[in-house]
Amino acid sequence: MSEEARTSIHGQWSSRMVFVLAATGSAVGLGNIWKFPYITGENGGGAFVLVYLVCIAVIGIPVMMAETMLGRRGRQSPINTMSALAAEEGRPPIWSLLGWLGVVAGFLILSYYSVIAGWALSYVFRSASGMFVGATADGVNSIFTSLVSDPEKLLAWHSIFMVATMIVVARGVKHGIEKAVSYLMPSLFVLLIVLVFYAMSTGHFSDGLSFLFSPDFSKLGWQSILVAMGHAFFTLSLGMGAIMVYGSYLPKDTSIAKASMMIAVADTVVALMAGMAIFPIVFANNLQPDVGSGLIFQILPIAFGQMEAGVLIGTLFFILLVFAAWSSAISLIEPAVAWMVENKGVNRIYAAVWCGGLTWFVGLGTVFSFNLWAKDTWSLELFGHFLFKDINFFETLEGFTANIMLPLGGLFIAIFAGWLMKTQSTKNELNTTENGYNVWQILIRYVAPTAVMIVFLKAIGVFN
Ligand code: PHE
Repeated sequence: MSEEARTSIHGQWSSRMVFVLAATGSAVGLGNIWKFPYITGENGGGAFVLVYLVCIAVIGIPVMMAETMLGRRGRQSPINTMSALAAEEGRPPIWSLLGWLGVVAGFLILSYYSVIAGWALSYVFRSASGMFVGATADGVNSIFTSLVSDPEKLLAWHSIFMVATMIVVARGVKHGIEKAVSYLMPSLFVLLIVLVFYAMSTGHFSDGLSFLFSPDFSKLGWQSILVAMGHAFFTLSLGMGAIMVYGSYLPKDTSIAKASMMIAVADTVVALMAGMAIFPIVFANNLQPDVGSGLIFQILPIAFGQMEAGVLIGTLFFILLVFAAWSSAISLIEPAVAWMVENKGVNRIYAAVWCGGLTWFVGLGTVFSFNLWAKDTWSLELFGHFLFKDINFFETLEGFTANIMLPLGGLFIAIFAGWLMKTQSTKNELNTTENGYNVWQILIRYVAPTAVMIVFLKAIGVFN
C-alpha cells in the first residue's frame, strides 16, 4: 500500500487537537495523582523527582514520538503494525512480538489499575455522604483501611469500573473516547489548582515544596532510579502500544513532535501539581510521606474535611480522578481490542467484552492483595520469594509491569525506530525540521537505549 493511501479501519481522530487530548487522557491518570506522589514519598523526594524529570525529557519524549510515528505509519493494532513495518523495512517478522509484549503489559496493568480506580470511585460516594467532614488523620485512615480490607467491596467497585471501560471501548474511537476527554481533562486541572491553593493555606507549603524539589542524592539508589524511569514510561503511557494505537488514528499531516511535547508537558504539570497539593497536607498533619499506595486516599480527605465546601470539592475531585483513570484505562485495552477486531473478524463489542472479562479476572489478584492475600500468605511465598522481596501480588505486578515490561518495550521501540527503520522512512513520517530530526535521532539511537540498559543492569546488580 502506498503511504498516502493508508488509513485505519477503526477510524481517525478529527484533528491534531483531538489526538493530543486523547493521548493526554491516556497519559494523565492514576499515574499522576495516585502513583507519582506515593512513589516520590517512598523514594525520598527531590532527587527522585529530578531523575524522573530527566527521564521524561531524554527518554519519554523521543520514545513517544517514535511510538506515535510507528502507529501512524502502520495504521493498525500494535501487533499488526509491528509485523507490517518489519516486513516493509526488511526486518524479521519476530518484531510483532513487541506488539504482543505491549498487549500483555496492557492487560496486566489494567488489571490492577481498575482496582485502584475502584477505590477512587468508592471515594466519590464517601465524600458526597459527608464522611470526611471534620475527620482526623486517624479517622480518614480507618475509612481507607475498612475499604481495602473488604474484598467484596473492592470487587464490586473493580467490576463497575471494568464495565464502564468496556462500554467506551465498545463504542469506538470517535464516539467514545473523543467525547469523554474533551471536557474532563480541563476540569481536573482546575480542581487541582484549587487543591494547591488549599495546600498553600496549611502553613506547610514550603516543606512540601522542599520535599519535592530539593534533591538529596544520598537517598537515591539504583532501585529508586529504576522506579523513576519506569514511572516516566508509565505516566506517559509508553512502551506498551497505547500511544502507538492512538497514533494509528492520527491524520497524516499533523506534527508528531509538537503533539508529543504538548502531551509530555501537560502530564508533567499535572503530576507536579498533585505533589504540591499532597505533601504540604502530609506535613501539616505530622504524617509520613512513605505510607505507600494508600497515600492520596489517606491524605486528601483530611483536607476536604477541613475546607469550606469540602464535600463538594472532594466529591468533584474524586469524580474527575475516576474520569482521568477511565480515559487511561481505555488506552490500556485498546491495543488488544483493535487486534481482535483486525484478526478475529469480530466486532468491537465482542472484543471489548472478551478483553475486559479477562482483565477483570486477573484483577482479582489485586483485589485480594489488600486482604485475603495480604502479607505473610501463600502469594507472598510464591511471588515474594520469586522476586526475593517482601511484596504482595499487586506490588509484584505493579513493579514488574512498570519497571520491567514498559522500559523493555520502550527499549525495543527505540531500537526499531532508531536503528532498523530507514532514515528516509522515519524522516518522512516525522516530517519535522532538520535540527529537530537530528536531535530526535541522537536521543532515540543512543541516549534512550543506553539509559534504559544502564539503569536495568545497575538495578539488578550487574557491575556493582
Ligand atoms: N499513563 C497512565 C497513568 O499515568 C497509565 C497508563 C500506562 C496508560 C500505560 C496507558 C498505558 O495513569
